[in-house]
Amino acid sequence: MQKYSESLRLQGKKIAFVPTMGYLHEGHLSLMRKGRSRGDCLAISIYVNPTQFGPGEDLDKYPRDFEGDEKLAEELGCDVIFYPTNQEMYPENYHTYVNVEKITENLCGLSRPEHFRGVATVCAKLFNIVKPHAAIFGKKDFQQLAVIKRMVKDLNMDLEIIGMPTVREPDGLAMSSRNSYLKGDERESALSLSRSLKRAEEMYENGERNAGRIIKEVRRCINDHSHTRIDYVKICDTETMEDSEYLDSESVLALAVWVGSPRLIDNHVFGEHLNI
Ligand code: PAJ
Repeated sequence: MQKYSESLRLQGKKIAFVPTMGYLHEGHLSLMRKGRSRGDCLAISIYVNPTQFGPGEDLDKYPRDFEGDEKLAEELGCDVIFYPTNQEMYPENYHTYVNVEKITENLCGLSRPEHFRGVATVCAKLFNIVKPHAAIFGKKDFQQLAVIKRMVKDLNMDLEIIGMPTVREPDGLAMSSRNSYLKGDERESALSLSRSLKRAEEMYENGERNAGRIIKEVRRCINDHSHTRIDYVKICDTETMEDSEYLDSESVLALAVWVGSPRLIDNHVFGEHLNI
């Protein structure tokens, strides 16, 4: 992969890159389309990265369908799929990790303490292997995007990070590979996330700026649905990821909720368009 990328670079070609864990859906495809328009070569990676999963999380049962993914990637005009093994990525005596501090301490960092260390490490490795000029990430994983931007800036990595809007099902559910875990009426309960974001945006548009009051209403809205168990509902600054008491134009509402077995996340930056 490195040799291939280097030869493209020597020909003056631009490489756009979309890292994924596979089981591709429209959310991934939207990033790939953006990449297609931004590079001469579109590379994607499919790798279920073990270092970002904690003990007892869904690493072993994470959905996989390489053949289906390959077909979708090909149809979309993807030039190369980087599909490494664990042995290639983390051979024996692997000991180097990237730790982005501060912004990883809140939100998902609270309930998944090693998660962002794994994400930052694998993305740093993937960037060194694929050598992209630009890498495209989804805003669905809002904190992840912030962590990657921070790492690229702090470590002077020579690539552009592009964030893309969350792609949703027609009823508002944010697309996610983990939606495949939802059984029966859990699918309906999963709408509690997007519905509560919408409710929060309505409150904001009506002038509410008190974070505590919005959080209370969002929690009520989620708890109204069966099968839901809230991990967190928080309003934070979009850059520092620190809790905000009062909303301004840089405030994000971030949610993590177990719905049946999967833990789903969603978010909304107040004042931005919400297509639900
Ligand atoms: P994965 O969950 O497969 O997501 C790959 C990329 O697709 C991420 O940038 C994610 O934000 C984006 N994405 C997922 N659902 C989306 C949606 N509904 N709309 C828009 N974009 C969406 O995120 C990961 O993999 C991993 O942590 C990874 C970055 C590959 C590192 O292992």
